[in-house]
Amino acid sequence: MSIDLSKFQATGRETCFHGRHIDAQIYAGLDGRNWRLRDYESRGGYQALRKILGTDGGPGMTPDEVVAEVKASGLRGRGGAGFPTGLKWSFMPKNYNGPKYLVCNSDEGEPGTCKDRDILAYNPHIVIEGMAIAAYAMGVSTAWNYIHGEIFEIYQRFEEALEEARAAGYLGERILGSGFSFQLHAFHGFGAYICGEETALLESLEGKKGQPRFKPPFPASFGVYGRPTTINNTETFAAVPWIIRNGGAPYLAIGKPNNGGTKIFSVVGDVNRPGNFEIPLGTPFSKLLELAGGVKGGALKAVIPGGSSAPVLPANIMMDCTMDYDAIAKAGSMLGSGAVIVMNDTRCMVRSLLRLSYFYQHESCGQCTPCREGTGWLWRMVDRIEHGHGRMEDIELLGSVADNIMGRTICALGDAAAMPVRGMIKHFRDEFVHHVEHKSCLVAQPVVAS
Ligand SMILES: Cc1cc2nc3c(=O)[nH]c(=O)nc-3n(C[C@H](O)[C@H](O)[C@H](O)COP(=O)(O)O)c2cc1C
Ligand code: SF4
Repeated sequence: MSIDLSKFQATGRETCFHGRHIDAQIYAGLDGRNWRLRDYESRGGYQALRKILGTDGGPGMTPDEVVAEVKASGLRGRGGAGFPTGLKWSFMPKNYNGPKYLVCNSDEGEPGTCKDRDILAYNPHIVIEGMAIAAYAMGVSTAWNYIHGEIFEIYQRFEEALEEARAAGYLGERILGSGFSFQLHAFHGFGAYICGEETALLESLEGKKGQPRFKPPFPASFGVYGRPTTINNTETFAAVPWIIRNGGAPYLAIGKPNNGGTKIFSVVGDVNRPGNFEIPLGTPFSKLLELAGGVKGGALKAVIPGGSSAPVLPANIMMDCTMDYDAIAKAGSMLGSGAVIVMNDTRCMVRSLLRLSYFYQHESCGQCTPCREGTGWLWRMVDRIEHGHGRMEDIELLGSVADNIMGRTICALGDAAAMPVRGMIKHFRDEFVHHVEHKSCLVAQPVVAS
């Protein structure tokens, strides 16, 4: 099957793959067209799988050795929470009597984030190889890649890459003549943000409504069809072949302690060159901003450093930060999915919060009261303030509603809705006060009371 990706694929010298990356591992050598198996093999693809299976003439690696290497790399999950990947893999029960499953989370619905779809479009085999290695390490023989419903062409491309891998013997029975068998399937998801939450994803994969499950039990003991399951993000799996080929210690050394390797940041908003940038964790934010062509349309005002759920940080704090999990957490936000939303000084924070709050109340699955009701309250209160009907007590009430959602819900969507509110009021309270007192905006056009 041939797919026309030309409408969103650069073809010239100045593409989204040139001059945008530092020490790239996942995007290394890509030009937008070289995604096929033969291209991947020419970049060293599937050597890591051969290495662990011992089909490269070497001694092979035991599953425990693979897990140990991933632990040594300091790789942390790229889906949002930054949980150590090797540790997660070690939770998979070893002597379980029955099937165990592996799932790749390619739902990628966090506003601002667009890295996983580019990995799948331009380097799909790196995900297939990473998943095969993970399956070998955890004794899994069946897996799925759950791909966001609205990126159908990328789902089709991944299917095509799977066909290539099967035909070449990298997937299926007795891979490369070894004793390891592994079946990987693509799953076309349903396009809802909540389906990216790991247990909602499992429900959706089973053909049910995508609503999160109560935890515990966690997927490691009760996942797909009630069987032990490990779920990782697309970029997490894509990082694995490099680690196995080159070793965990060199991967760790590329980043900084506790923050191994490179990370792909989707830089969006008020920048001259938006897009995906793969850089070592620990790179200064100022360098990332420079790669993205600098701020467009005004001076830097604020940045949401990790997707729309992450609290906003003002420019002065951000310019002192390095881009890694620990530094961003210390500054009061989170690295999350790695979407960096840049805002210039013409952006009104009340209006920005209104847009975010609308998104979360719309995406709440409605199972638990604090999230179902609270996200709607937040949105309506911010709407009131934005449109000149706010009361001074609404500002305190916003914080109080956010506090009462946090930690009181089945899944973290509630927290994701509450955290931006707290961040905006903490750093940009004066804009909310101005809206209430003057019924107009401190930075943008006057608000007309309606
Ligand atoms: C509302 C919500 C949406 C999420 N969406 C995604 C997503 O689109 N992709 C993703 O990898 N993780 C997403 N997550 C995180 C997953 O639940 C899970 O932690 C992640 O897939 C684990 O992979 P990792 O350890 O490799 O990061 C979401 C979490 C929540 C609460
Ligand atoms: S927190 Fe929100 S999205 Fe998550 S389960 Fe509860 S209602 Fe659904």
